[in-house]
Amino acid sequence: MKYPKEYLGEIKARLKVSTVVSKTVSLKKRGKEYVGLSPFKTEKTPSFTVNDEKEFYHCFSTAEHGNIFDFVMKTQNLKFGEAVKSLANLAGMRPYTFSKEDEIREKKWNIYKVIFNKYVDHYHNELLKNSNSNEAKDYLKKRGLTKEEVKKFKIGFETNDFNFQENIFKQYNENDIKDTGLFYFDENKKRYVSRFRERVIFPIKNISGDPIAVGGRILKENKFLPKYINSPETPFFKKGSNLFNLDFARKFSNNQNIIYLVEGYMDVIGLSKNKIDNVVANLGTSLTSRQILTLNQFFDEIVICFDGDESGYKAALRAAENSIIELKPEKKISFLFLPDKHDPDSFVNEKGKEFFLEFSNSNSVSIHKFIFNHYFKITDDNPSSRAIFEKRLRSISSTIKDEFIRKYVLEYFLEKISELTPNTNFKYKKYNSKNTKSLKSTQNYYNETKSLKAIDIKEFSFLYILLKKPELIKDNFQLIENVKLFSNENKLLLNEILSQSNNFEITDIENINIDKNLIERVLKYASIKHIMIKNFNNDEKILEILSELIRDLKNYELEIRIGELESKFSKDLSEVTFNELKELKKLQKTN
Ligand code: CTP
Ligand code: MN
Repeated sequence: MKYPKEYLGEIKARLKVSTVVSKTVSLKKRGKEYVGLSPFKTEKTPSFTVNDEKEFYHCFSTAEHGNIFDFVMKTQNLKFGEAVKSLANLAGMRPYTFSKEDEIREKKWNIYKVIFNKYVDHYHNELLKNSNSNEAKDYLKKRGLTKEEVKKFKIGFETNDFNFQENIFKQYNENDIKDTGLFYFDENKKRYVSRFRERVIFPIKNISGDPIAVGGRILKENKFLPKYINSPETPFFKKGSNLFNLDFARKFSNNQNIIYLVEGYMDVIGLSKNKIDNVVANLGTSLTSRQILTLNQFFDEIVICFDGDESGYKAALRAAENSIIELKPEKKISFLFLPDKHDPDSFVNEKGKEFFLEFSNSNSVSIHKFIFNHYFKITDDNPSSRAIFEKRLRSISSTIKDEFIRKYVLEYFLEKISELTPNTNFKYKKYNSKNTKSLKSTQNYYNETKSLKAIDIKEFSFLYILLKKPELIKDNFQLIENVKLFSNENKLLLNEILSQSNNFEITDIENINIDKNLIERVLKYASIKHIMIKNFNNDEKILEILSELIRDLKNYELEIRIGELESKFSKDLSEVTFNELKELKKLQKTN
């Protein structure tokens, strides 16, 4: 039995290799790739790499490599079919059963796809080439679209000819055509008519890039006709599951943490025209938690940016209440409110990319703040209104699935409420001081470590060894002296340690003439701590760890210099820069 290519392709499209691998191997980002300790061999230095862009993993010490299916088969000792089942589940897809129904569905899907592709291609070409489309062309031009956007999104215009419809009805059977939702039976005229006649066509694609639905806009606004109509739900298009432009935007998730979620077709196209490609739209329907989960598979932060009018605000509130349920540690959902009368399309076209990003950076509010602020705004200053307010917030926070986030959000709400009535609200004070103490400290630790980068922790570990084992410094002075640290504070500390050990033996941390907070940070966050305690008298082992750390730090420095040179080279294209770059890359390989 063979799984259909489409089904396997969708699993691969939905799951990054790093997502799958990081369930069993702890990975660190290094440049475009991730590295970690090989799951195929015990090792101390990471030789296992994952590349999301190229969709594979590679282990340099065992030469094992492959895609997500290979990985799960090898590490969990599963057969191919079992790996597919487990990954489909992780991707949030239904299992493939090889039943008669699945077989029929697959056949239908293939026909559906062909009809849709023909439709989209045909009317895209009509827009580009047919003079009947001139009015549509002028309209799009007036809205600032160039041929580039028209081609990128395969925008079309359904001209008023019946040839296409006639041809389709000659080639395919009625039921298959009806399933596409492109035509419907008109009871008065007693024949099929095209749903999108004389509308601009925006193809909606599934995650793998196949068109499965369309939206159509009229050229001139008209009281009697809806401005947009979208495909109805079909066997292969479910509104709450799809997002416009997801197939394209997900490809940017390897170097973007943020995804913008907007309302409309034109918002996506406007942002994309301004070189902001990490954007999807939910097309005016209400946001579902399935859509949030899908976006979280690729991006750490979702910025929801709807129109700056009342209906945009209402839609945002609905989105907030629907999506807070899925909030997870490490993931963020924020809201960006635009000035009144703007939508993302008009805003970015007027202000440009840099302004938009800057505005988004400094004005987006996190989901729990938005919810609090909203309910606070509509609450009066009297006990019964306050009670409803609190009840509402408690009930919203109780819908959150993740336990840690649920507690965190509830605590945030209650603390904010207690700030409103500092003198009278004895109840909350008690709640805060008694029940949430441990939570607060976990939360602080969590926030602090989150702001530390992997490289900071490496540097702490390096300094930790020097502080705890100063007697090792003298013999390895040159090696240590040549290490370049990244953070200025750590540099300061290293210089102090080195200069003191040059003068006399340090035997006590207390002798170091430097801000105690810096030392405390090192002692607190150095990840090497436990290993050091275990091996405190094993100098050989500690030296080994030290040189490994030094190598990692050097590699990091090299990586940064290579990055700088690469961007320099892309601007100056000079041979000198190129040769320098080549040298550094050679060095990186030998390290
Ligand atoms: N929408 C819809 N039916 C309508 C109006 C809107 O389905 N009658 C959906 C469309 O997907 C639209 C989105 O809601 O893209 C946002 O609506 P709106 O802000 O009105 O659309 P814009 O994309 O701003 O449209 P335009 O700029 O073309 O007027
Ligand atoms: Mn709009």
